[in-house]
Amino acid sequence: MKTIIEPFRIKSVEPIRFTTREERQALLKSVDYNLFALKSEDVIIDLLTDSGTSAMSAEQWAAIMRGDESYAGSPSFIRFEAAVRDLMDFKHIIPTHQGRAAEAILFSLIAGPGKVIPSNTHFDTTRGNIEGTGARAFDLVIAEGKDPQNLHPFKGNMDLDKLEAFLVEHGDAVPCVMTTITNNAGGGQPVSLENIRATAKISRAHNVPFIIDSCRFAENAWFIKQREPGQGDRSIKDIVRDMFELADGMTMSAKKDAFANIGGWLAMNDDDLAQKARTRLIQTEGFPTYGGLAGRDLDAIAQGLSEIINEDYLRYRVRTNEYIVERLDAMGIPVVKPAGGHAVFIDARAWLDHVEPLKYPGQALAVALYEIGGIRSCEIGTVMFGRHPDGSESPAAMDLVRLAMPRRVYTQSHADYIVEVFEEVQATKDDLRGFEIVEEPPMMRHFTAKFGKLG
Ligand code: F0G
Repeated sequence: MKTIIEPFRIKSVEPIRFTTREERQALLKSVDYNLFALKSEDVIIDLLTDSGTSAMSAEQWAAIMRGDESYAGSPSFIRFEAAVRDLMDFKHIIPTHQGRAAEAILFSLIAGPGKVIPSNTHFDTTRGNIEGTGARAFDLVIAEGKDPQNLHPFKGNMDLDKLEAFLVEHGDAVPCVMTTITNNAGGGQPVSLENIRATAKISRAHNVPFIIDSCRFAENAWFIKQREPGQGDRSIKDIVRDMFELADGMTMSAKKDAFANIGGWLAMNDDDLAQKARTRLIQTEGFPTYGGLAGRDLDAIAQGLSEIINEDYLRYRVRTNEYIVERLDAMGIPVVKPAGGHAVFIDARAWLDHVEPLKYPGQALAVALYEIGGIRSCEIGTVMFGRHPDGSESPAAMDLVRLAMPRRVYTQSHADYIVEVFEEVQATKDDLRGFEIVEEPPMMRHFTAKFGKLG
């Protein structure tokens, strides 16, 4: 069949409240044009994030009822640990309440002033947790990964020459090498198995642990199966196991590729580091058999991990984004190609080329999508990455707007509606104006900054 249908039926629904354009104009003003400050009830299609927004399956809800809330040694933990280990065979698996808690624990132990940590591209919380310790974070993605139109199949790949040179230059100042799969900040682009293998090899040669930021591991494995020579006949599970066998540790947000609404973990093979991490976990999150989670959350994750590697799901998942990208591309809208795993990314800098980067073209587009169609998206560009620890500001590598797809939540007609809203924006896009930031915190400003519309 030509149509790739949603591989599920809907048993429980949430109503969408429709607003008018006038209402949305007033709402935008009331939140100083920061979409994070909107009430979700005032959003028609919420594409702010794919994190924690998944629809859980009937089996996950059943697992929630099975959850055991014992403080220590809960069977929910045993099931969680077994489900993780089935895919990622690390010696120590340490639950946390979400991905950034895993990052915070890891970097509190291995980072600090004078340290430098390379990645293909750090996500904002990862960067924030590294820089918060006084260390510095560096992005070494391949050049193709920064070119929205380049059709390279693995635009999340690490630039291996740059990594080698980085490790030679910085020596003992590098406590770990990271790779983010898929590369969220770079357009949801995958990293090839070959690149993961080479990154692991270079790291090992320099005696530096290799850590995978694993949030969207199943989508990454799907792309490997589709695009990497020799991988097409392998199961997603085998590919996943291969990816993680190459690493010394991982951080994970179960809010993405575990279909859970909350949760995460930190895993590693190093006994000494694990002991320190568990001690820190007890201080900040909870006892090592629950982390910051309820037993029922651990069970929802365990079940979610068995569903996320389903190929019918992954095929539908990636196809939704491809469909929107194809339609926008046909309309001449500059989109990041190929389509990312969890999101559609619009190149706002190229599309709104009359708005200069320091007037935040991504913000201008995100605001227009909400005003015109009630769609909430997320700027991933100069607002998010333009302010540096020394206080200076410069344009980010790209000014993207991300339409992140919650898992199993929206249907084909929602996708068609999204495309229609873009048609409307296209008709008036030359009138869109940039923004200035009138108030911002010292770090991670995009969450709480206040904006003023430029005339
Ligand atoms: N790493 C990556 C690549 C992420 O995308 C995220 C979260 C995290 C780490 C942190 O995980 O939210 O569980 O603490 N990304 C979400 C997003 C917030 O919208 O992309 P968390």
